[in-house]
Amino acid sequence: MNADGTGIVLRDVDVDLDGHRVLEGVSCELDARSIAVIGPNGSGKSTFARLLAGLVAPTRGEVRVHGIDPVAEERRLRERLGFVFSNPSAQLVMPTVREDLAFSLRGRRRDGRRLARAEIEARVEAVLADSPLADRGDAPAFSLSGGQQQLLALLGVLITDPELVIADEPTALLDLVNTRTIATILLDVMPARLVLVTHDLDLARRCETAVRFEAGRLVQQGPPDEVVAAYLASVP
Ligand SMILES: Nc1ncnc2c1ncn2[C@@H]1O[C@H](COP(=O)(O)OP(=O)(O)OP(=O)(O)O)[C@@H](O)[C@H]1O
Ligand SMILES: [Mg+2]
Repeated sequence: MNADGTGIVLRDVDVDLDGHRVLEGVSCELDARSIAVIGPNGSGKSTFARLLAGLVAPTRGEVRVHGIDPVAEERRLRERLGFVFSNPSAQLVMPTVREDLAFSLRGRRRDGRRLARAEIEARVEAVLADSPLADRGDAPAFSLSGGQQQLLALLGVLITDPELVIADEPTALLDLVNTRTIATILLDVMPARLVLVTHDLDLARRCETAVRFEAGRLVQQGPPDEVVAAYLASVP
């Protein structure tokens, strides 16, 4: 962990799921504003992302995310971390855009107390007004296009002011324009740190550092250009 409490540290982590070793011997120290996670299908990237978010537990070894043990201190982590899935429908729960954003803030605490309804409404309006969904506040979430839904899912995470966003292929279903919009928010606009699992190697190159997985092992960590080049060279 860094002096300011940020950073991701794994020590000799294995993850077994349903009797399969999905991650093996993963060790790393990552301290960057944005971290790309790349590698072939089934290499363990999503499992790594879920491990950081406390959604799967290590079978062996140690995980610390911004100084927090994601499993033992799940609640503390949840206050600081946001997770974005590639399929936004997994994340949208309320009927309208406004209600969905408000739902993200329900039960949240600021300075040790719950946010009042008026505070939640004010924050929703501020986030909406500043977004490409400004005129869709009362639209049913299911009526939005895939790209707009992904944007809403991301706004639902950002409205909670996370320290760290973990995004698992957030642009997988998006066209060029929406990919650009989401990428700009993740990489340039939001103040949070980012772990970005992606098959989009141009996006990976825009991160500050990168890690590469192969068959459940973290095989490389370094500047994205080098890690992407090695990945390309590894494909027959
Ligand atoms: N719950 C589970 N039970 C058993 N095996 C699992 C489970 N979840 C994942 N796996 C296996 O672990 C391996 C890694 O999966 P993971 O989803 O982490 O890969 P990935 O790198 O994200 O792949 P993709 O690029 O296709 O999303 C795969 O072989 C997968 O089948
Ligand atoms: Mg995956």
